Amino acid sequence: MNNNRRKVLKWVGLSGLGGLITWKANAQAIINNECLSTDDILGPFYVPNAPFIDQLAPDGAPGTPIVITGTVYANDCETIIPQAVVDVWHANDGGGYEDTHYRGRVNTQVNGTYSFQSIFPGKYLNGASFRPRHFHYKVSFDDVELTTQIYFQGDTSIPSDPWASSPSATDRIIPVMEDENGVLHGVADIYLDVDPLIINSTLKMDRGRSQIIKIFPNPLQTSGQIELFLAKSGHTHLQVFDLSGKKVMADMVNKVLPQGEHLLELQSNSRLGVKLTAGIYILQMRVDHQIIDAMRFIIS
Ligand SMILES: [Fe+2]
Repeated sequence: MNNNRRKVLKWVGLSGLGGLITWKANAQAIINNECLSTDDILGPFYVPNAPFIDQLAPDGAPGTPIVITGTVYANDCETIIPQAVVDVWHANDGGGYEDTHYRGRVNTQVNGTYSFQSIFPGKYLNGASFRPRHFHYKVSFDDVELTTQIYFQGDTSIPSDPWASSPSATDRIIPVMEDENGVLHGVADIYLDVDPLIINSTLKMDRGRSQIIKIFPNPLQTSGQIELFLAKSGHTHLQVFDLSGKKVMADMVNKVLPQGEHLLELQSNSRLGVKLTAGIYILQMRVDHQIIDAMRFIIS
């Protein structure tokens, strides 16, 4: 019996602990820089475009109330991600999925945290055995999306469930504690495979303004991509400068582009015969001869 399983035995019935616990499932993994949350099956009951609500169970729904909080982090294990979307759906107290209830989306706040209230998900039969209680999650930011499930320590249905008993699910089996009002509390942090460097550029996205959205990967080795947004069609001119202000790559792009998002290649070895060596560079974007934006990138 490992430590997790031992802790299980006192998971329920604890009271007077002041509600929220602070818990980070994979503290050791963070030290090892291997924090990324693992995926799990989608299951057949996902419905896209759930409403943005943080009370998932309908008023008066039977079951034990539960509050889940957490923080969504980037792949460096510590940068928080504001405005990520946490899409949650789960079974009702009787183990059934409903089309309109027990599902909703929440955004992470400026400090990367999210929370929602519902009732403790019920169990349902999968073949001959019950699936353990679980919340289904889809967590997304920018073009990264993780589909996964959150389980609960002490659930006797975990060992017979092929997904919850997988070693990859260990960090997603969370403890819950009951407060003096009979409400369960759990913390489920999510570590998304999002590069911290793109978070600020994605968040600053303003559809009224032409801009460089991101350069990725960054650092890059020999090639990468530039994502641009043009609020309106215009003659777009991209040039690269070194940190001393010397132009090192002219006319990377020099043409009229239509309104919208554009994905362009960035090669350290350009077709124009220019080779960028390892270093720090500035990509400058002009539209209709005006400097619109600039972004730093690194060639490693
Ligand atoms: Fe399910």
